[in-house]
Amino acid sequence: MVIVKIGELSELAPGKMKKVTVGDKEFLIINVDGKYYAIGARCTHAGGDLSQGSLEGSVVTCPRHKAKFDVATGKVVSGPRVPFFKTKINDDPSYQVINEGGSLLLKIE
Ligand code: FES
Repeated sequence: MVIVKIGELSELAPGKMKKVTVGDKEFLIINVDGKYYAIGARCTHAGGDLSQGSLEGSVVTCPRHKAKFDVATGKVVSGPRVPFFKTKINDDPSYQVINEGGSLLLKIE
């Protein structure tokens, strides 16, 4: 397990998200009404950059084919919209974000 500082609380307002890179992995950090979540930043369908997607409540929509993920759990809410194909995709990995005295820490198992 690794715990990495990824920024300050004040840098991520409610309703906002940002991508951070730790080693060779990208993570999406999200503030939903003052609660902080982290999931993988790459869509499990075809690698779309979720940081370029849209956030509504706790659901992020992939900019490429519109798959939706719950950022609190990483679970798929709805799959990609690809004409003529019904594609089942994996949940996104989810990680714990810790607020320690105003610093945001990411816990990676
Ligand atoms: S890459 Fe995200 S839905 Fe296809």
